[in-house]
Amino acid sequence: MYKNTDKLRVFSVKEPQLDLFSFTENNKLEDNFLLSSEDKDIGFESIGGDTLLGNGNCVDFLTFIKSSTVDLILTDPPYNLGNFMHKRNTNLVQMRENQFAYAGWDNLSQEDWEKEMDVFFKESSRVLKKGGTLLLFMSLMKIETIIKLAAKYKFYYKTTGIWHKTNPMPRNMNIHFVNSTEAWVYFIKDNTSGTFNNKGKVVHDFVETSLTTSKEKKFGKHPTQKPAKLIAHFISLLSNENDVLLDPFMGSGTTGVCARKMDRKFIGLELDENYYELSKTRMLNE
Ligand SMILES: C[S@@+](CC[C@H](N)C(=O)[O-])C[C@H]1O[C@@H](n2cnc3c(N)ncnc32)[C@H](O)[C@@H]1O
Repeated sequence: MYKNTDKLRVFSVKEPQLDLFSFTENNKLEDNFLLSSEDKDIGFESIGGDTLLGNGNCVDFLTFIKSSTVDLILTDPPYNLGNFMHKRNTNLVQMRENQFAYAGWDNLSQEDWEKEMDVFFKESSRVLKKGGTLLLFMSLMKIETIIKLAAKYKFYYKTTGIWHKTNPMPRNMNIHFVNSTEAWVYFIKDNTSGTFNNKGKVVHDFVETSLTTSKEKKFGKHPTQKPAKLIAHFISLLSNENDVLLDPFMGSGTTGVCARKMDRKFIGLELDENYYELSKTRMLNE
């Protein structure tokens, strides 16, 4: 992606924790830049000055973000259910293998996954402001581990909630319950409450939407693309205009698409090159 270095500004940095938006003050597409520290080079692409994108392992990119600068982390990491599904004799195994071929973290051992998530929580805690919010989607099977890891890094556990899909695929409907829910977990960094724009209304820990529409998939497909309506619900409730939002596992870029429409600044990271390009295309065109 950074093959054409003519357009890229290169900065040598000694201290790899930077106010990234200060590199994009001219609001130009040419504001793409490469940060080069003693042990690694990290390239960020800027779209429109208020959105910074990075293609690679989020753990490497996170170390370049200045401490206490992010207001909301809204993300959807791989649930790492690959090995578990492998051992099961169901027709979902083949489907999952086809769909999750790209997801690097989905087949890790439980131990390696916990190590990766540990670094994710450590860095997320560092970059979030005190009182900032972390909301992540997760399999119910892994929530106890997630809460334990988060507690190590000053995250105050608030809620586990449910997203209900109103029109799930009725797979194997005559032999068991049709899977129609996913869980999300909500934390505040180093405080007991954060931004919560309920505007005097009762907000339930149960969110209901239909599946992602084909209109939202017109630029390409991602196996776990979340509906924009679901993500916009959390952005409006948990952040304010001009806040800095971060999604380290952005997939097809849904968080970024919504953040930009809702006048938030956005930092998005994605490991896979194809999904990275898809998310960029969506942000520039939706
Ligand atoms: C569950 S998907 C996110 C889907 C997203 N919510 C959407 O609406 O499109 C998780 C994404 O994280 C990416 N990923 C996995 N490990 C990563 C890592 N270490 N750093 C950055 N991205 C990673 C995968 O390639 C995948 O696209």
